[in-house]
Amino acid sequence: MITAIRGTHDILPGEIARWQFVERVARELCERYGYLEIRTPVIEREELFAKGTGESTDIVQKEMYSFTDKGGERITLRPEATPSMVRAFVEHNLENVLPSAKLYAMGPMFRYERPQKGRYRQFHQLDVEVFGLSDPAIDAEVIDLAWALISDLGIRRAELVINSVGCADCRPRFQQALLKALGDDLPKLCQDCQRRARTNPLRIYDCKVPADQPIIDRLPHSIDYLDEPCATHFKGVQAHLDAFGIPWRISHRLVRGLDYYTRTTFEILGAVASAGEPDDAESLGAQNALLGGGRYDGLVKDLGGPDRPGIGFAAGLERLVLALPEHAGAEPSRLACVVAIGDDGRREALKVLRELRRAGVAAVMEFEARSLRAQMKRADRLSARVAVIVGGDELARGEVTLRDMATGDQRPVARSEAVDVIRTALT
Ligand code: HAM
Repeated sequence: MITAIRGTHDILPGEIARWQFVERVARELCERYGYLEIRTPVIEREELFAKGTGESTDIVQKEMYSFTDKGGERITLRPEATPSMVRAFVEHNLENVLPSAKLYAMGPMFRYERPQKGRYRQFHQLDVEVFGLSDPAIDAEVIDLAWALISDLGIRRAELVINSVGCADCRPRFQQALLKALGDDLPKLCQDCQRRARTNPLRIYDCKVPADQPIIDRLPHSIDYLDEPCATHFKGVQAHLDAFGIPWRISHRLVRGLDYYTRTTFEILGAVASAGEPDDAESLGAQNALLGGGRYDGLVKDLGGPDRPGIGFAAGLERLVLALPEHAGAEPSRLACVVAIGDDGRREALKVLRELRRAGVAAVMEFEARSLRAQMKRADRLSARVAVIVGGDELARGEVTLRDMATGDQRPVARSEAVDVIRTALT
């Protein structure tokens, strides 16, 4: 047997209601906040991510699915959406085409990571980006949308953490202080951190190696090295969050694993509700970031566009689905099951089935001639809300029988009115 590739997963029909619920809430919220949907390709040029996501990131260093195509071009399965969104913004001159450059997208991303609960090699993101606005109010609005997403999904026990990583002007001072503080401890850190110290010292904060943590916890905090404009911006973001009544906490280690961030960074951390006890929560472990994002004021220019600021976030749909309350997305059945008795009944039942579907009612019927009992059992297994029984005797009276599957109540309905009655009963 050929199985699915490690780190990928099928989303089976039994789980799809929860997925559709998350997608529906996400889409509806984005539209309500004035974001427009955009769909970009899953494959892009490798250099887009090397430049955009950044050469010093774990993503570019070790996690990209890249290959040479038949024309000799280096292609990458997108590991994240932000560089693609920036590319599309620049390539199509969207700031002049759209009334406002507030965009969202949903789709699969690919990272060659070690799979575990909440971490996959093919996963899905909702990605939200805003271009051209630098006021701290827009940072707060983006965070408000992220917070609304978590709350509209019914996810409790979520926590917003924020930080500021400064800008190209003030960050060098912080990096120097960081290396100075590391001093003699640097050789004690893991090989990855040694490399990070050379390529981008901020990445040291991403380290997950347990032995390194006590050293990293003693390192300086980026917010103590912000220049005046960055400090004022960060205060502004906090004031807006307070005005919106969104609780937040500063996490000094929140530098985020991508190279493009400037000023504000944020994440919403969550937990997974354990089965049967929606109030009890089991941690998602290290994979507890439901979503993460921040400002990237230099990226549009770095990717060949005009000098425009940007801010956004991405939420992992798998993690949102895992964190949903147990019965989220469950809807009452709207299915009608047509049940035929005898040959005459069967002929007419097929007509009723077709009329129901034309009228917008979800309806199914057994095609192999089977006993009434077997058909009713089947209707039950399909969780049909009603059964429409079409038999010779009923038809002779110009009627069909409507059975409520939950209560077992049955009543005759005129054949000519059956479709209308059923449609009304199911809405
Ligand atoms: P990120 O933190 O790399 O940011 O990913 C965002 C979210 O995607 C994570 O918080 C997590 O929920 C989900 N995620 C990431 N990797 C995996 C994985 N291997 N398996 C399952 N879920 C995963 C970005 O991707 C940035 N592009 C966000 C952004 C948008 N920043 C500004 N604009």
